[in-house]
Amino acid sequence: MRKLIVRSAEQLNGEVRIGGAKNAAVAIIPATVLARGCCVLENVPEICDTEQLFQMLSGMGAVVKKLCRTTVMIDTTELNTSVVPYDLAKSMRASYYFIGSLLGRFSSACVSMPGGCNFGVRPIDQHIKGFELLGAKIHIENGLIHADTDGMAGAHIYFDQVSVGATINVMLAAVKAKGLTILENVAKEPHIVDLANFLNSMGADVRGAGTDVIKIRGVDVMHGSDYAIIPDQIEAGTYMAAAAAVGGDVTVKNVIPKHLAPITVKLRESGAVITEGDDWVRVVRTGPLRKINLKTMPHPGFPTDMQPQMAAMLTRAEGTSIITEGVWDNRFRYTEQLVRMGAKITVDGKVAVIEGVKGLRGAPVNACDLRGGAAVIIAGLMAEGTTEIENTLYIERGYENVVEKFTAIGADIHYITLPDEEQPVQA
Ligand code: EPZ
Repeated sequence: MRKLIVRSAEQLNGEVRIGGAKNAAVAIIPATVLARGCCVLENVPEICDTEQLFQMLSGMGAVVKKLCRTTVMIDTTELNTSVVPYDLAKSMRASYYFIGSLLGRFSSACVSMPGGCNFGVRPIDQHIKGFELLGAKIHIENGLIHADTDGMAGAHIYFDQVSVGATINVMLAAVKAKGLTILENVAKEPHIVDLANFLNSMGADVRGAGTDVIKIRGVDVMHGSDYAIIPDQIEAGTYMAAAAAVGGDVTVKNVIPKHLAPITVKLRESGAVITEGDDWVRVVRTGPLRKINLKTMPHPGFPTDMQPQMAAMLTRAEGTSIITEGVWDNRFRYTEQLVRMGAKITVDGKVAVIEGVKGLRGAPVNACDLRGGAAVIIAGLMAEGTTEIENTLYIERGYENVVEKFTAIGADIHYITLPDEEQPVQA
C-alpha cells in the first residue's frame, strides 16, 4: 500500500501541462471496436482507467500497442467476442460503453453491471431506454447486462434526464443503426463532442453534438482512424483551483480555454486574476480569497467534477460560501475529510455551507473517490504541517503523474510505500 504525503505550500508557481481528457478517452477507447481495423489514439491520459480498458480490449482479442507515452495503436480486426472480461469491467463504470459499441459491431454485448464512484444511486435506465428504442433486447442477470438485437433501426429518443453516460452509450449504438436517430435532451460536455468527432473520423454521420439535439444517420461500415483526444477540462480545473487556493502564479498549458469558462468565472469571483491564451490559462492570486456560491449543473453549467476541489479552496475564504450539488444525490462524502483538517462545513442533502477558517491543519485522511482525492491534496497544500492521504488508487484512476505535475508548480508532495508488515490487520 502507498500513501501520498503532502506538506504545506507558501505559494504555487510555474507551469503544468495538461493531459488528455479521461472522460473522452474512456468513451473513445471502447468506440474503436466499431471499426474492423486500426486506430491510433494520441494524447491518451496515462491513468488506471485507460490501462484497464486496454486490458479489456486485449482480453477480447484486439492488439493494443503503446507507440509512445501517450500514443496507442488499437487493432480490433481480430476481436473475437462480445463478452467483456468481468473482473476488469466490474470495477470501472465506463466499461458499460462497450454495450453500445459491441451492439454496433456484433449485435450483442455482455458487460458487468457498472462500478465507479459512490454518489448514491447511479441508475442506467436512460441507457436501457435508448438501446430498447433502437431495437435491442436488454436483460440483467447475475450482475451482467446482456444486450442483443436482430438489427437496430433509427429512432427518436428523448432522454428524461440529461446524462453523459446515456448520451454516449446510445450514440455508440446508433451509428450503425439503419436510418436516422434523433437524440433529444442530451448532454453537451466537451467529451460528447470529442466522441462525435472521433466517430465521424471513422466514417460515422453524427451531427449536432454540443447542442441539445444530436442527429445520427446509420452507416454500414466504419474504418480505423488516427485521432488526438482533447485536453482534460477537469484536470486543468484542478490545478487552477489549487493555484487559487494556495495563492501564487500558475499557468496550465495544452488546454482549450473555452472548455474552462464555467470554472474561470467562479475562480475570478473568488479573487483570482485569470488570463487566457490560445492553449493556456494563467491563474494568479495574491489578494484575499473571497467567499462565493456555486451550483453544479450539466455543461455549460459549473461541472460537478470540480465541486470538491472548489470546496477545499473555500475552506479558507473570507466569509461563508454555499455549494449546491445539482447533478448527484450524494456528492459531499469527502467533506468529512476536510473537517478532520479543521474545516467548518455543514452538509444538508445537496447543499454544503462552508464557513471560511483562518487555517487548516495537516492530518491523516482518505481519498474517498477521484475528485475527493484531488480535494484533500489541495487542502493538504493549504494546511499547516503534513497531510497523509490513503486510498491513492482513486486519484490514480483519473490524474496522470500527479506527483510530478504538482512538484512542477512548487508543491512538496511524494509517495511513501508502506512495507507489507505495516498493513493494518483486519479484525
Ligand atoms: C459522467 O458520469 C462522468 N463519468 C462523471 O465524472 C460526471 O460526474 C458525470 O458524468 C456528470 O458530469 C464519466 O464520464 C466516466 P450522468 P455518468 O449519466 O455518465 C442520472 C469523474 O469524476 N441518471 O451524466 O455516470 C444520474 O443518477 C466522474 O470523472 C439517471 O437517472 O453521469 C445523475 O444524477 C465522476 N439515469 C445524472 O443523471 C441514467 O440512465 C447525471 O448522470 C443515467 C443517469
